[in-house]
Amino acid sequence: MQEKKSIHGSWASRWIFILAATGSAVGLGNIWKFPYITGENGGGAFVLVYLLCIALVGIPIMLAEVFIGRRARQSPYNALQELAEESGKSKNWGLIGLMGMLAGVMILSFYSVVAGWVLQYIVSTANGSLNDITSEQAGAVFSGLLADPSTLLMWHSIFMIMVVVVVIGGVNAGIERATRIMMPALFILLFVLFGYGMSTDGFEAGWDFMFDFDFSKLTWDSVLVAVGHSFFTLSLGMGTIMAYGSYMPKRASIGSTVLAIGFLDTLVALVAGLAIFPIIFSNGMDPAAGPGLMFVSLPVAFGQMAGGQFFGTLFFILIGVAAWTSAISLLEPTVAFLVERMGMKRSTASISIGIVVWAVGILCLGSFNFMSDVTIFGKNIFDTLDYATANIMLPLGGIFIALFAGWTVKQKIAADELNFKSESLFKLWLFVIKFIAPVAVAIVFVLNL
Ligand code: TRP
Repeated sequence: MQEKKSIHGSWASRWIFILAATGSAVGLGNIWKFPYITGENGGGAFVLVYLLCIALVGIPIMLAEVFIGRRARQSPYNALQELAEESGKSKNWGLIGLMGMLAGVMILSFYSVVAGWVLQYIVSTANGSLNDITSEQAGAVFSGLLADPSTLLMWHSIFMIMVVVVVIGGVNAGIERATRIMMPALFILLFVLFGYGMSTDGFEAGWDFMFDFDFSKLTWDSVLVAVGHSFFTLSLGMGTIMAYGSYMPKRASIGSTVLAIGFLDTLVALVAGLAIFPIIFSNGMDPAAGPGLMFVSLPVAFGQMAGGQFFGTLFFILIGVAAWTSAISLLEPTVAFLVERMGMKRSTASISIGIVVWAVGILCLGSFNFMSDVTIFGKNIFDTLDYATANIMLPLGGIFIALFAGWTVKQKIAADELNFKSESLFKLWLFVIKFIAPVAVAIVFVLNL
């Protein structure tokens, strides 16, 4: 068969694909969200369920997304349609891609607001205003930021412009090269902070909190949060990895690539937790403090550390970059779709969706101040978008992608694309994607109702 190419281009190598996909996966989900939801859901047992979800559900579905994208070489909506047709099934499967695009817009609108907090903290750390700060003061600084819509709007707007500019350029050598430098740097700094966490007297408490499996603290709602987060952190369930897969070189092995991405993403989340919780415990702060956890604990730690102003600034810059590369990947599938389907120019498509996301983002940042009394089922708009995407739309998208890959796509196509070393490995994957992954996620859903 003649090899298809995406009209949007393709990664230079398998290594670049790993970097780009890891850039997408590693983001605020790992460093901001994972520690705070672990704190809210009681620690160890939650972490264990999350790890199980990554292994049993996340990795198999990531394999599915990558091979679907690479086979069809198109944006998710079109890719799903084409593979369905190739397998003699209904084109309605494309609708999963539609839900994915909607989820992408919803996620990015609150993601950008949080990324905006990070940008503010780069400045505050760099100018020394957080030096020697106590935990009470750090809490007050964070609440002060949330109460100030114009500052939030400024950073949210700046971040969205950064995202749109890169997406207009295509997934180009620029961002690939930036990722190549920034990702290793992020790892190194994370370990520096981890080392600091180890040196505090809260390290044991932090470690126990994350790895003592006390199942009495686990509710079905926590399990759903763990399932949802495994999708969120691996960028699954909405087509991001499918779109990135469509730019993947043909000869690269999908299996080892996906394992590398899953491993790196999990490592960053765990190390972020082990860096943050000791700081929390050694300063007598509350692990269940919610979304502000990182923004309150890190300034306190950096404030006390030798060279903390420098390292702190660098660290927030790197979180900003991690958020940036993830945000780009949230926009890309929809932009690729508009270019393919509507014949739009990439710039027009990127700016149009960028404006939609920006507008929805204003409602999200208003949730902390001028719109704090607007609630849906008792949650403000920010929390609603987070909950609806991570805990409903992504898992639902994941179930459908699993069913599509396991039952709808011809087995021969899946086997050809995945090209595992052994037949039994393929059989194992097929069993998991047909039964285990969709059923497990569905059960968690139902038990939550
Ligand atoms: N995975 C990213 C993070 O952890 C966020 C992200 C990027 C994402 N693309 C996605 C989440 C697609 C869900 C779906 O921060």
